[in-house]
Amino acid sequence: MKGIDLALLRRLWPFVRPHRRHLVRGLLLLLLGSACRLTLPYLVKLAIDRHLTPGELVGIGWLAAAFVALGAIEMAARRRQMFEVDSAGQNALLDLRRRLFRHLQRLPASYYDRTPTGRVIGRLTTDVEALNELFSSGVVTVLGDLVFLASALAILLALDWRLTLATLLVVPPLGAVTMFVRGRVRRAYHAMRAELSAMNAFLHEQVGGMAVNQMFRREERVAADYDRISSGVRDAQLRTVRWESILSAAVEMLGSFTVALIVWFGGGHALAGGGAGDALTLGTLFAFIEYMQRFFAPLNDLSMKWAVLQNATTASRRIFALLDVDEALPEPAAPPPLPPARGEIVFDRVSFAYRGEPVLRELSFRVAPGERVALVGATGAGKTTVLKLLTRLYDPDEGRILLDGRDLREYPLRELRRRVALVAQDVFLFEGTILDNIRLGAPEIDDERARAAADRLHLDEFVARFPRGYQEPVRERGKNLSAGEKQLVSFARVLAAAPPVLALDEATSNVDSHTEHRLQEAVHELMAGRTSLAVAHRLSTVRDVDRILVLHRGRLVEEGSHAGLMARRGLYERLVRLQGMGEEA
Ligand SMILES: Nc1ncnc2c1ncn2[C@@H]1O[C@H](COP(=O)(O)OP(=O)(O)O)[C@@H](O)[C@H]1O
Ligand SMILES: [Mg+2]
Repeated sequence: MKGIDLALLRRLWPFVRPHRRHLVRGLLLLLLGSACRLTLPYLVKLAIDRHLTPGELVGIGWLAAAFVALGAIEMAARRRQMFEVDSAGQNALLDLRRRLFRHLQRLPASYYDRTPTGRVIGRLTTDVEALNELFSSGVVTVLGDLVFLASALAILLALDWRLTLATLLVVPPLGAVTMFVRGRVRRAYHAMRAELSAMNAFLHEQVGGMAVNQMFRREERVAADYDRISSGVRDAQLRTVRWESILSAAVEMLGSFTVALIVWFGGGHALAGGGAGDALTLGTLFAFIEYMQRFFAPLNDLSMKWAVLQNATTASRRIFALLDVDEALPEPAAPPPLPPARGEIVFDRVSFAYRGEPVLRELSFRVAPGERVALVGATGAGKTTVLKLLTRLYDPDEGRILLDGRDLREYPLRELRRRVALVAQDVFLFEGTILDNIRLGAPEIDDERARAAADRLHLDEFVARFPRGYQEPVRERGKNLSAGEKQLVSFARVLAAAPPVLALDEATSNVDSHTEHRLQEAVHELMAGRTSLAVAHRLSTVRDVDRILVLHRGRLVEEGSHAGLMARRGLYERLVRLQGMGEEA
């Protein structure tokens, strides 16, 4: 079947299964409603043939009452049925979204390196929404439609089989026309969604970079780009409207055509009387038209549901492709008893490449428990990468990294990250208060402890200027804090978590000398009493540490104390002389 992959759609079943009771109820209600719908025209036929035509009004009241009652039941059943089916759908999609999110949480940094954020979000929003259509458009109850169609057809044939067959001649052209137009409608919607997502991506970038645009006087050029993209959206929207209107006109016209056919064909038949037992009564003619229309409505829906099914196939393919990404860093199934945390780090001939070009080459070094070691080197030497491997954001391609004598890959990830904390160069703050950002929701860190950590780093100096102090809300990604303040918050996070090993990537943002001094004191405080591996850009940090490792193109080229390395007059001395490590990453 074109564009529809049942094997793929079947994979959705486990999500629907727990809520199938709603579906069954919905289907039963659909059948009840359909039965009522099919009875109504027959009641009118009886009223016309038994009462109106012969002029016999006794008993017509009962028919009217039955009509109202059945109509009411049909309405109630239909309302409840939609609710039941959507309950199954919404609950299944909730489960699916949860599952996807948990999956995203397990995917490693390497996955996010190569996957655009917008695409990941699209899986959980647009694609899940496409599956929602399966339920809201009634695809899942298509079985009910088929039962309805078969019953309507049986009734039509029983009423007048010749007239039925003659009228059904319009089904092939009706089908062909609507299929064609629907194809166009679908393509138009496809194009519109692409235009919309292009516009969203554009807006996302431009709003984020508004200040840069203003500084470089790009307003006019960017506005022209926006006009172009935005007009594209309008044109695409109008195309969908054009084809939608053609579709509804075509369906409407074919409906009228059918009625005309019945009236012309069957009307002549009814007047002629025909003598034989097959005379068509006025009531039958009326009922026939009614049934025929009720027959066409779901038939027409079927082609729409087909399109929904195709969209759902595409969405499922993407969603399951994401769920099938099996890249989570391997963890031991049954971790052996772990050594007590002392904080010894060993890199043993570690080689690593993000893609192709090696970044670390046979790197070996040891950091003793409690030792403070600085990593220095030019930009791109691989310093940040060393920290990423130590926190297992990535695994080495060759060699191994030991923490307290045990390969990192033998630690459960959560335990490893309890023992080694990373302070990254760019700080990520979440929505919430400053204190929330220090605790990061860790249950074992109460407000007391978070406060104490903040006080040790003298955060109160800047927090005091906020009306709500530590309870001050942090705006999107920390817009209301300065770079230095954000750094201090991220330091306080680590201090509150109190890990035995610290992996610190010193920020290179230029801060005033007062802040510089405070950050320096904070780093000193952070390193106290724990094994520290710090990428250092500031001379003051380097002087604080026990030992310095100099990295050059992923290799360890020098090591020693500041004084010793200066005396050597090698790469380190040159870096210091050029102030290279005083500024750049
Ligand atoms: N996520 C990544 N994907 C691909 N290449 C990367 C990635 N991160 C860093 N690199 C590359 O790896 C090299 C080392 O980067 P990094 O460890 O950040 O250097 P440093 O921190 O010493 O400046 C650089 O050439 C950089 O371009
Ligand atoms: Mg770096």
